[in-house]
Amino acid sequence: MKNVIILGASGNIAKHVIDILAKKDDVKLTLFLRNKSRLRNKNVSRCRIVEGNVLDLHQLKEAITGQDIVYANLAGDLEAMAKNIVKAMNETGVKKLIFISSIGIYDVPLKPVLKPYRKAADVIEASDLEYTILRPTWFTSTDEVDYETTRKGEPEKGSVVSQKSLATLITKIIEFPYNYVRESLGVNKPNS
Ligand SMILES: NC(=O)c1ccc[n+]([C@@H]2O[C@H](COP(=O)([O-])OP(=O)(O)OC[C@H]3O[C@@H](n4cnc5c(N)ncnc54)[C@H](OP(=O)(O)O)[C@@H]3O)[C@@H](O)[C@H]2O)c1
Repeated sequence: MKNVIILGASGNIAKHVIDILAKKDDVKLTLFLRNKSRLRNKNVSRCRIVEGNVLDLHQLKEAITGQDIVYANLAGDLEAMAKNIVKAMNETGVKKLIFISSIGIYDVPLKPVLKPYRKAADVIEASDLEYTILRPTWFTSTDEVDYETTRKGEPEKGSVVSQKSLATLITKIIEFPYNYVRESLGVNKPNS
């Protein structure tokens, strides 16, 4: 049994990931979110639901204790969130982190809107964690799974990716967590 916690479980991509993982018998899901009434999934009877704020280190540490994988699906003050996540994981001995960031974070000059995403990535990359940072292009709600990845240092490709594709990649990393360790991956729809 693999213990997986989703931080920001009321988010768009998290919804798709929960839909996939909630059906798996070998995954014990913990859904961490500020307000459980904002959870979009219906079929969560087998999940543990924890109300909390990622900016509250005590709440975060308590929720992360005993997890095998932390998947962060967050928006807002991402640098402060990343600092708390790294600290909480270090202090609880949890190693694997999947963190959704954005396309364009290594661009020079950096677009101001992407600064929080870049700062969060810098915090995570400076840690000793077994992280996988994902840098998706713009999301579509198309019902398809069609994606490719690029590694850090390679030119990013494409302009869109479906939410379902990104969720599928995340569930694959959860299934095979030793893949993409200490990597920052661009994610896009091929030829988009
Ligand atoms: N839209 C795009 O095309 C696109 C493209 C590339 C990257 N991205 C980025 O990809 C990431 C994931 O996207 P998404 O659409 O799934 O995001 P989303 O729907 O906005 O979800 C973000 C989640 O973060 C939670 N959150 C915010 N502050 C929190 C805190 N202090 N403690 C706990 N939870 C907190 C929110 O919960 P509440 O319900 O409590 O507010 C929300 O559910 C985002 O950073 C987004 O900017 C988006």
